[in-house]
Amino acid sequence: MIGKLNHVAIAVPDLKSGRAVYEQVLGAEVSDEQALPEHGVTVVFVNLPNTKIELLEPLGEDSPIAAFLERNPAGGIHHICYEVEDILCARDQMVSNGARILGDGEPKTGAHGKPVLFLHPKDFCGTLVELEQV
Ligand code: CO
Repeated sequence: MIGKLNHVAIAVPDLKSGRAVYEQVLGAEVSDEQALPEHGVTVVFVNLPNTKIELLEPLGEDSPIAAFLERNPAGGIHHICYEVEDILCARDQMVSNGARILGDGEPKTGAHGKPVLFLHPKDFCGTLVELEQV
């Protein structure tokens, strides 16, 4: 049901130093900053030949990554994102297979302007999973 790995997301306390690591140390191409107030994060994307790395910095008072950064002050891998063809169909099938969807269960618009959903990490080997319809 899941397709390609779309991105791996890394929460960082500071986006400027996060991007500097990828640009200057690793020599990667990094996108402009994009504020996503409805998701409580500011993001940049590191564009790699086969996938992307999403760097996330908290935005606003109750950012969903604030607690994660309290536990991981230097940053860390926050979620992985798999592509699906039809997000509602994938959701319904995963729910019937016993998976739990975070929030109200309805897709939101993600950083690429496409519908996204998040799945409970306890159901996926301790990893927060994002689904993105492509
Ligand atoms: Co993501």
